[in-house]
Amino acid sequence: MTDYQPGLEGVPATRSSISYLDGKQGILTYRGYRIVDLAEHSTFEETAYLLLDGELPTTAQLERFDTQLREHRRVKYNIHDIMKSLPITGHPMEMLQTAVASLGMFYPNNVPIQIRSPGDESEQYVYGQSIRILARMATLVAMWQQLRLGNYPVRPSSDLSYAANFLYMFNGDEPDPLVARIMDVCFILHAEHTINASTFSAMVTGSTLAMPSYVIAAAIGTLAGPLHGGANERVITMLEEIGKPENAKSWLEKKLADKVTIWGMGHREYKVKDPRATLLQKLMRELAESRGTISPLFETALALEEACEDSLAPKGIYPNVDFYSGILYREIGIPSDQFTPVFAIARTAGWLAHWREQVSENRIFRPTQLYTGYAPRDYVPGTDRV
Ligand code: COA
Repeated sequence: MTDYQPGLEGVPATRSSISYLDGKQGILTYRGYRIVDLAEHSTFEETAYLLLDGELPTTAQLERFDTQLREHRRVKYNIHDIMKSLPITGHPMEMLQTAVASLGMFYPNNVPIQIRSPGDESEQYVYGQSIRILARMATLVAMWQQLRLGNYPVRPSSDLSYAANFLYMFNGDEPDPLVARIMDVCFILHAEHTINASTFSAMVTGSTLAMPSYVIAAAIGTLAGPLHGGANERVITMLEEIGKPENAKSWLEKKLADKVTIWGMGHREYKVKDPRATLLQKLMRELAESRGTISPLFETALALEEACEDSLAPKGIYPNVDFYSGILYREIGIPSDQFTPVFAIARTAGWLAHWREQVSENRIFRPTQLYTGYAPRDYVPGTDRV
């Protein structure tokens, strides 16, 4: 048996053919395709198909998949009622977990979730549920945005792409093409990332053969934490606290001296800059150029990254995906507390791909532990305790 590794660092917990990352060279691939190529040439719909199926779709396959996604964008009215009863001051990730968990009650099933052969009843169920859940994730996030503003949710449009429809429902207006494309690329970049904490959570839940609503709800809860998907929201707070680029170096020195975590920096696997951060930074530049104005937050982030070069980079700590994503989201009109839900929409594609892989070759997760407690001892009645 291997030694205990805190955080399971370096411990293989599964075999997977979904994605691969080389943390020394900064390479990330989905099913063998480099993320940089997918960001340039693919769409979120095509990337989701790739993740779920294993291969890029033909034109006809993509059309069918996309049509199915469009057909399943609407949710039952009862979900609207559930959301209306939630406090608008609550965090959107809490809403999202609640809403996704409740989906299982409205769409129950009796199919055993264990794929034994290609095309069997379970595989068809897994495929059908994957389409339905992925289609509805964007709807749920956008509905909440409208409801908490006191508006009636915007009906999904089946004429728009996944990303454009999300922004349309979220803001109430059709996005301009550049903004829609930026959202699409952000979804591609966040769709999958090997066996990270939320994916592992989905796999553990999936390994009990639980319904997909539980699988995705578990993953959402895990993504919410600030050490994982919740970091993007904290990055904005941090940049606002720094205030302006000139303050970045002295701010950083003080925080590092106080042993404070610098949000959006560092990664268990990457010891160079996260390739997704590089791509998001490029998108941010494109947006700034098209608007002819550069966001002060972006300038501060660039200054902070530069300051980190001297102190954190020598320890292999560089910007991760969350460092630039929030700034970009902010620029396209998404409020900070919706950053992680937007991440969750995209990552659902990866969670579902891992769920399918898990139930295709399932064994329940049941690791062991190194017990550090008492040896068996005698029960002491309350009156005799000191
Ligand atoms: N700011 C300051 N120091 C950091 C740091 C950061 N963001 N990330 C890592 N470090 C330091 C740790 O303090 C530790 O230093 P030490 O060896 O002197 O104690 C060392 O680097 C190793 O960090 P550790 O937390 O053990 O690494 P990990 O692999 O367990 O954690 C993260 C990885 C992502 C959780 C961690 O880098 C982090 O907290 N980053 C900020 C949160 C974030 O952006 N999360 C999103 C990830 S995509």
